Amino acid sequence: MNDKPRFIELPAAPLNGSPVPELTSIHAANRRGPYGRRHYRGNCGGYLIRDLLRYYRPQRVLDPMTGSGTCRDVCRELDIPCVTMDIRRGQDAADPDSYAQLAPVDFVWMHPPYWRMIRYNDDPRCLSKAPSLEAFLTRMQLVLRLCRSVLKPDGKIAVLIGGYSDRGRYQPLPQLLVERAIRERLWPAATEIIRLQYGNTSSSKRYRSSFIPGLHDTCLVFEAVENVPL
Ligand SMILES: C[S@@+](CC[C@H](N)C(=O)[O-])C[C@H]1O[C@@H](n2cnc3c(N)ncnc32)[C@H](O)[C@@H]1O
Repeated sequence: MNDKPRFIELPAAPLNGSPVPELTSIHAANRRGPYGRRHYRGNCGGYLIRDLLRYYRPQRVLDPMTGSGTCRDVCRELDIPCVTMDIRRGQDAADPDSYAQLAPVDFVWMHPPYWRMIRYNDDPRCLSKAPSLEAFLTRMQLVLRLCRSVLKPDGKIAVLIGGYSDRGRYQPLPQLLVERAIRERLWPAATEIIRLQYGNTSSSKRYRSSFIPGLHDTCLVFEAVENVPL
């Protein structure tokens, strides 16, 4: 008898005072919304960003790796000023000079390359060109430090990132990044959010090898703390 369920129903979430009760530790929007460009490689939809902005209600947002501008478009809809950078425009999120003229922000949306899963360009400063995992994490740690330096006291930094298999070795990027964030005195402000990935390029491919397919990436939300509570 085949009694495997074809569709999953999310567990009920406890009622609470959240202004966005549908925002839980699992985000399963199967549409991307009218934000950013669908064909920009590695792009994500706008609904998770929109839910986070409706929840945290920032006055001013920074997206240091804007790509096709998904976060910028969501901010425009919600009427929130948003500052953007991207290495494609010569702005390096790991360079202190990129932050020199920035007024403080209370929310950072960061969607970095998942190391070298997708090569974005040939600029050696591009995170997707980092020659080793250590180099990628060290650069990401620097970006986190710089974002923290322009964050208002109650501000939040949200990072969307996923693990992937690189030349046969699984790279648990979200977990490794949490450890780097904690070194920068950035502590998780909430549960991690598992974002289900609909319409991934790899979903329509066929592979000869055997593996457990990853169908999600992870959104980590951090806040600055004076002392790490360890
Ligand atoms: C996953 S994509 C972001 C997609 C974006 N969320 C969108 O709406 O299309 C990662 C982006 O990081 C940018 N990037 C890589 N290294 C960077 C760096 N050092 N400074 C700024 N941007 C960088 C890439 O050019 C790419 O656009």
